[in-house]
Amino acid sequence: MLERREFIQALGAATLAGWAHPAEAGPLPVYPDLIHRALCPEAPPLPSDQLFRRSSETYWSELRRQFLFRRGFLYLNNGTVGSSPLPVVRAFLESVLREEQLENDDTEQYPLWGYGRWDAYRRPMAEFIGAELDELALVRNATEGLNYVANGLDLKPGDEVLTTDQEHPSGLEPWRLKAKRYGIEVKQVELPIPPTSKQQLLDFFEAQRTTRTRVLLVSHVTTTTGVVLPVRELCGWARQHGIFSLVDGAHAVGMFPVNVKEIDCDFYVSSPHKWLLAPLGCGLLYVRNDVLDRLWNTLATAEWDNREIRAARLQHFGSTNMSLLVGLKAAIDFWRAIGPKRIERRIRDLHAYLKGRIADFPGAELHSAPGEEFTGGILAVNFPRLDRMKLQQWLYEKHRIRIRGTSETRLRLSTHIYLNQADLDRFLAALEEYLQSQTA
Ligand SMILES: Cc1ncc(COP(=O)(O)O)c(C=O)c1O
Repeated sequence: MLERREFIQALGAATLAGWAHPAEAGPLPVYPDLIHRALCPEAPPLPSDQLFRRSSETYWSELRRQFLFRRGFLYLNNGTVGSSPLPVVRAFLESVLREEQLENDDTEQYPLWGYGRWDAYRRPMAEFIGAELDELALVRNATEGLNYVANGLDLKPGDEVLTTDQEHPSGLEPWRLKAKRYGIEVKQVELPIPPTSKQQLLDFFEAQRTTRTRVLLVSHVTTTTGVVLPVRELCGWARQHGIFSLVDGAHAVGMFPVNVKEIDCDFYVSSPHKWLLAPLGCGLLYVRNDVLDRLWNTLATAEWDNREIRAARLQHFGSTNMSLLVGLKAAIDFWRAIGPKRIERRIRDLHAYLKGRIADFPGAELHSAPGEEFTGGILAVNFPRLDRMKLQQWLYEKHRIRIRGTSETRLRLSTHIYLNQADLDRFLAALEEYLQSQTA
């Protein structure tokens, strides 16, 4: 922690910078009160378990004070990126302020992530997803992890990668690059919207399997419809047929508890800056111990060929900002302080409420499945005659509600812990207003 005097000096400098160059701070000026909230030593405490037991709605409303959102702004798009809570922002910023002084008793030490093991940060992340320390590399986002796997596996022309039609470009494109460069094949299973059973999904994959199928790539939660795929069953099926399994868990970590050993995949990738609310620029790449030696590095610098450091060789990518790791660890601590199960329940309850209400809207086509088996925190709903981009812009300009979609007509709505039922009602009323204005 910063000493109080140092903190006040830092705050003064940051405040001046905020006033002097508001335009450089991005679309919103960084007013001193925001800087003060982010850095002030007296952060609001987390609401208590007692409060949760007494009134869970009050608990969640109290918890919202942990976020930097301005009053009246609603955010429903964790599918792209989340907002870090104050303890995470503060841990990150304090680390930046401390480390920028570049003093260290050990004169070989610098605040660089990109050459070292950083076990103090890697270990809690590994524990959080049920991995061994040796099997986890901290990378900068899911895109990086997904590319490392596609680039790192030896495949021959004609070898096949089996995936779905709902993958994010960061999952699919690395394999398409490999297809163009090395002549492998990429096959996409068309996922039913919504799926009806796990067996139905397994049958779709089995129907496309050939003797050349080498890799299975599936999202844990897809980016387009938010469907939660039965990754344990799919990876089991892949293992049975000697196929590598790669799970793109960009959305899953933080949305619900993830255990890579239970899933029993070969590779698991995520972007904790989405649902775990870590600072932007945090990613993870899990590689099962047995397959680690079959994965080549994409980037080579010191120790790229040191097999003894296991997955850590994959996080050797040159100098970058280790304060992000401090923020990542703070995000895990925040999660544990509230309770992953409690968070999952809240995300699912809000999702169920929104799904129930929106299903009754005229013209709404639910692309998310009913119930919980195939859903988590992302709701996909299609309005065939809607111009999604116009609605998205209108919602922000008129109501300061931020959403996103995954086609010209489909909305993708995230229900994270900073929302409550009244917020969702406000969003629904605004949506209704817009839809009515279009039919009038
Ligand atoms: C399923 C999925 N995979 C990968 C990514 C890429 O994530 P990042 O941009 O954090 O690398 C996204 C981003 O939205 C995604 O939705």
